[in-house]
Amino acid sequence: MNCPALPSTFFAQTLVAWQGQHGRHELPWQGTREPYRIWVSEIMLQQTQVGTVIPFYQRFMTAFPEVIDLARADLETVLGHWSGLGYYARGRHLHRAAQKIVQQGFFPRSPEELQKLPGVGRSTAAAIAVFAYGQRAAILDGNVKRVLGRFFALDTPEDAGLWALAESLLPDQDLETYTQGLMDMGSLLCTRTRPRCAACPLQTQCQAYLRGETQRYPTARRKTVRSERHHRLLLLCTPDGRWLMEKRPIPGVWGGLWSFPMEVSDSRPAGHSLTLDLVPYPELDLPPFIHRLTHFDWHLTPCAFKVSGAVPSPSDTPGHWKSLSDLMTHPLPTPIRQLLHTLSTKQTGHCVE
Ligand code: ADE
Ligand code: SF4
Repeated sequence: MNCPALPSTFFAQTLVAWQGQHGRHELPWQGTREPYRIWVSEIMLQQTQVGTVIPFYQRFMTAFPEVIDLARADLETVLGHWSGLGYYARGRHLHRAAQKIVQQGFFPRSPEELQKLPGVGRSTAAAIAVFAYGQRAAILDGNVKRVLGRFFALDTPEDAGLWALAESLLPDQDLETYTQGLMDMGSLLCTRTRPRCAACPLQTQCQAYLRGETQRYPTARRKTVRSERHHRLLLLCTPDGRWLMEKRPIPGVWGGLWSFPMEVSDSRPAGHSLTLDLVPYPELDLPPFIHRLTHFDWHLTPCAFKVSGAVPSPSDTPGHWKSLSDLMTHPLPTPIRQLLHTLSTKQTGHCVE
């Protein structure tokens, strides 16, 4: 056996060789240098796993084959295609960025310019620059931080140090294979829980593995303080089966999507500051549920009411009265879509699609 190479050379060379043999090669955003296609994929992959992204990505590309199609679409249509992926700010940023690209007439090339697009951070900018233009730039997302943290047994890595390390590791060639290899390593072998070290080619020089401490790295993240919010979801139904719905404000959680009106749970019971004659509708009360978001747990309690008096015209209410079948064609947050399915099953005995 030869002298082991320097850890940095070993790291890159090993990843490149491993990705060639065992990495991912058939993803729908691979095999192209089209920046638009790569950019969309990297945005979708920011908080969503590859397997989930694939079908959404394919439908999105069919709907918006070129950046001009995305720029010209209205936000509602774009969010409709995002529905189910979550983190809707990504969809809104994508749409705004498409308009910016079309306006300036070209796709930015350098990581610095790419980073000026809404929704594109330093790591995403680097990934696009590498995959679309073959540039030499370092990615550093959560997966990469974990791989580096383990391989070098970094106890309290700071972001600045990690970026410097990531840049120092870049090989002189095969940037795309290396970058894809790093991503694939983080999601296929060096996973957060139970990394598959036995199959890992980095094993012989991986400091965490050699110390038998893969579980220790990355060191536990400082717990973000999670807060709770409590809201009632007001399910207000007219005698002819229409529901009061509101388009959620932008910016904000579920911004631009349709939802039931809400009120803070500790305020006095229902009414939604509307002058409506409401009668409780216990047959349609649904169990409370918790929607987990990055910074808080959202406790939502559906409360159903029938509108008994005259139904106010749209101009008199801050929302719109909509039938379930009409609603299904609107961009909806996933929990609300599920709730509507349940409601329609309860109400009619069959599900409105
Ligand atoms: N995660 C982020 N970007 C990715 C890509 N291009 N392939 C696989 N996983 C990814
Ligand atoms: Fe990760 Fe294990 Fe490979 Fe080290 S040996 S890089 S901990 S999978």
